[in-house]
Amino acid sequence: MRSKVTVVGAGNVGATTALRIQSLGYADVVMVDVVEDLPQGKSLDMLEAGPVVGSDVQITGSNDYAESADSDLVIITAGIARRPGMSRDDLLLTNMRITSSVTQEVVKYSPNCIIIAVTNPLDAMVQNVYETSGFPRNRVFGMAGILDTARYRTFIAQELKVSVEDIQALVLGGHGDDMVPLVRYTSVGGIPVTELMAEEKIDQIVQRTRNGGGEIVALLKEGSAYYAPSAAITQMVEAVLLDKHRILPCCTYLEGEFGINGLCVGVPVKLGASGIEQIMQIALTDDENKALQSSAASVQELVDVMREAKASGS
Ligand code: NAI
Ligand code: 2OP
Repeated sequence: MRSKVTVVGAGNVGATTALRIQSLGYADVVMVDVVEDLPQGKSLDMLEAGPVVGSDVQITGSNDYAESADSDLVIITAGIARRPGMSRDDLLLTNMRITSSVTQEVVKYSPNCIIIAVTNPLDAMVQNVYETSGFPRNRVFGMAGILDTARYRTFIAQELKVSVEDIQALVLGGHGDDMVPLVRYTSVGGIPVTELMAEEKIDQIVQRTRNGGGEIVALLKEGSAYYAPSAAITQMVEAVLLDKHRILPCCTYLEGEFGINGLCVGVPVKLGASGIEQIMQIALTDDENKALQSSAASVQELVDVMREAKASGS
């Protein structure tokens, strides 16, 4: 029997992700959204692409979570997206309320699923979904690090005029302006990037990576990136459904790893059929660790704001 994936939020990221999964034939897909007829219309359109792309998977849309029952994997993209001049953090409380209600429905109908949260601000939303779900931490995690690393890899490949496939890299920390691209763990066909590029150029690329989401928002003017984000989500879906044991940067709940306790932050993990199989604890220099702790502190601030809002019932 085919796996079943539900995508909550049939907007730019959700619909593009659903299309990628359907085109690859990985699973039957259900799209759920609050907007009447939107997930139904988009899913029918995608279904009708099936004969052309050679995909027999079923794809349906609904405004009712009953349709999503017994999903193996649920991707939460529901929420509002960034507009020009808006930071990811501006989204915090609105998207907290949305992801809380979505998670309650997901847990009710798919109590054994794995959840990938995507809604921004990412790390705080993963924390909210994790705590709301009551699931073990291996079954709730978030997408950001693959996207941030993909941007970093793209810029390095462009600068060196080499294949993107030859850039190995890792971006840690929260999905914010203080994310931590690890230059020391960046290589080009096995050669440390510092052998091939001047420090000043690397610094520029690190900065452009940190501003990668904002750069797209400024160009699109309405909404934020979705092609690269949906590709990154699909890589995580593939790792789980095909039990690939991939080593990928994902946002996960840390329990003392990297000196961080009780907080969701992006770190390298091993991803397979049971979700997060292992947190890869790599050695960091003092400076790298300082940057990671600073990024985690930014996430903690958002989590504290969410806690206060919940405590005051607002
Ligand atoms: P979008 O506005 O195109 O789509 C969001 C969809 O969520 C809309 O169709 C809306 O009707 C739906 N929605 C709102 N409330 C809902 C609810 N209670 N239940 C079900 N559906 C609901 O936005 P887009 O571009 O798809 O982005 C979605 C989210 O993903 C945003 O928060 C965005 O910031 C975030 N994002 C995160 C990335 C990451 O790296 N983690 C990358 C790109 C986007
Ligand atoms: C991005 O980085 C908006 O978080 C989203 O493109």
